[in-house]
Amino acid sequence: MEPKNILITGCSSGIGQCLARGLRVRGYRVFASARKEADVAALSAAGFESVRLDLDSSESIHAAVQTVLKHTQGRIYALINNGAFGQPGAVEDLSRAALHAQFETNVFGTQELTNRVIPAMRAQGEGRIINISSLLGIVCLAYRGAYNASKFALEALSDTMRLELRNTNIHVSIVEPGPIESRFRANAYEAFKRNIDREHSVFREYYAGVEQRLGGPKPLPFTLPPEAVLKKVFRALEARRPKARYAVTFPTHLFAVLRRVLPVRALDRVLAAVSNKGQR
Ligand SMILES: NC(=O)c1ccc[n+]([C@@H]2O[C@H](COP(=O)([O-])OP(=O)(O)OC[C@H]3O[C@@H](n4cnc5c(N)ncnc54)[C@H](OP(=O)(O)O)[C@@H]3O)[C@@H](O)[C@H]2O)c1
Repeated sequence: MEPKNILITGCSSGIGQCLARGLRVRGYRVFASARKEADVAALSAAGFESVRLDLDSSESIHAAVQTVLKHTQGRIYALINNGAFGQPGAVEDLSRAALHAQFETNVFGTQELTNRVIPAMRAQGEGRIINISSLLGIVCLAYRGAYNASKFALEALSDTMRLELRNTNIHVSIVEPGPIESRFRANAYEAFKRNIDREHSVFREYYAGVEQRLGGPKPLPFTLPPEAVLKKVFRALEARRPKARYAVTFPTHLFAVLRRVLPVRALDRVLAAVSNKGQR
């Protein structure tokens, strides 16, 4: 039997790279995309069929999908929307441009890519769309408003697509990791330095701690390796009836329950305390 084709975004590091490796070993034909040429070259050197795909560019999305469809005679079994970044900073310190950039990658580009792949899935009569969301698509932590909002938006679009694709054989699943070893914090630190005017913020004292955490090597409590996400992705790809949501890490399971059972004020107390401890 022909291997099933999977397109993954953001394979230069972290979860995306782990998914690309693990799914290839599992027997899938993996198209591992990255937004920088150097990463595409490194992925190719590692034996992947690699394409350049920058979620911030419609042309790049279009060209990547065309390339994959050409190599697969029009068949893409699964799309894994993994590529994203976190823009730290208090909501009142976010410029319009910074908020826009967060949504450009995590929401607009991701949905545009999905919409370009769905017609192939409809034509082949099957498909799996797996959106990598976050614990912060379930609850909000302070000083991460842009990222919270982007993952809530991704969850809403995923839930809506699930309804709209109900009578097709195309399944939409959301994977919700808590802390996972990757370059996420290092990349978030870069976004922080790029877009947040720390010196002129009322939160500047808090930001000193943010910089220490994002710049430092110490992992957050309950951090798991990216293979924990891979395990759930196997299920989303291979279950006859995949679940709408797959939680990864203890904090995700915990907050999914706390959000349901705690009154808002009590939940806010917990979230405010946690907000000062980590960055995800
Ligand atoms: N690590 C965690 O604790 C954690 C927790 C919850 C959810 N997540 C989610 O897991 C996913 C993977 O993140 P990660 O932890 O593996 O972090 P990561 O190591 O920073 O990887 C993020 C990937 O997204 C790519 N990316 C960023 N902007 C892009 C763009 N415009 N177009 C295409 N790709 C782009 C990055 O490429 P570059 O190298 O070019 O920047 C990188 O390959 C993300 O959706 C993230 O929100 C992570």
